Amino acid sequence: MKPTVAVTHIFPQIALEKMKSRAEVLYNDSGSSLSADRLREYAGKSVALISYLTDKIDAAVLDAGGDLLKIVANYGAGYNNIDIACAQQKKIWVSNTPSVLHETTADLTWAMMLGIARRIVESDRLTRDGKFHGWQADLFLGGDVYGKTLGVIGCGEIGKAVARRARGFDMRVLYHQRTRLPEAEEKQLNARFVSLDELLRGSDFVTLHVPLTDGTKHMIGRDQLAMMKPTAYLIHAARGKVVDDQALVEALKNNTIAGAALDVFENEPELTAGMTDLDNLIILPHIGSASVATRDIMALLVVDNVFDVLDGKTPRTLIPEMQQ
Ligand code: DGY
Repeated sequence: MKPTVAVTHIFPQIALEKMKSRAEVLYNDSGSSLSADRLREYAGKSVALISYLTDKIDAAVLDAGGDLLKIVANYGAGYNNIDIACAQQKKIWVSNTPSVLHETTADLTWAMMLGIARRIVESDRLTRDGKFHGWQADLFLGGDVYGKTLGVIGCGEIGKAVARRARGFDMRVLYHQRTRLPEAEEKQLNARFVSLDELLRGSDFVTLHVPLTDGTKHMIGRDQLAMMKPTAYLIHAARGKVVDDQALVEALKNNTIAGAALDVFENEPELTAGMTDLDNLIILPHIGSASVATRDIMALLVVDNVFDVLDGKTPRTLIPEMQQ
């Protein structure tokens, strides 16, 4: 008999087919997230739980997995939705999808940088509304991107991919994170390690690529926004709670900074009051890794992790906390 593997939400066909070659797949194809009850039910019936970053995999879900559940394979690089300590204690593997989505997410980060600086969304809206009456010298004046200073907060795979692209725009690159990169890598990226304050004060674009942890929650709040140049932009494609969105709305309203582009926000999918009134804000529905090819590759990697467990092996992309 084939083992049962649960998939909590929409999953690419190519990966579903691959999964079905070795397992009975319990699949939620409703298009909506599972309730906490149903999530526990799925966990209780499966050897592997393929989860979304919107599924809260807490102690109750892991408990429901009993002795049967061997792996939670998260469909995404971030895994702040999972109670890692509890999974460790129960000896349930947790895997994610690193090293396959950074380039696509970096592309989106650049789309946001260019989009907010050159006022692409506002310009599109006006044109669609039939309000473009011919070339005008002061129509949608924005900021330049080339030759400016890019500040990367969190220089992991995504941050580095973002920094690499800055070369083509003749930008200076500053970066900040807990641990300094090796000198050779700094040279390759042409990036200078600075304190958070120096980065905030010196950058024309501040882009966030840190994971959500207790240490990064509200890393950018009123004080940090006040340090940024009034002509600077904040770009955010990490995890919503890294930024205090209430403070961001105030800063955008008061022109403390020039603009922001968010692919993630604090109370996703709920917007913070005042967001939709702001022309100097672009808000996207968490589509950082959403290219057809990358979502397929991510899903196939999820399946490979599950296959590893079915084969009695250690999953190939275990989260760092579980690596030896
Ligand atoms: C991730 O993988 O963590 C992303 O946020 C999904 O796009």
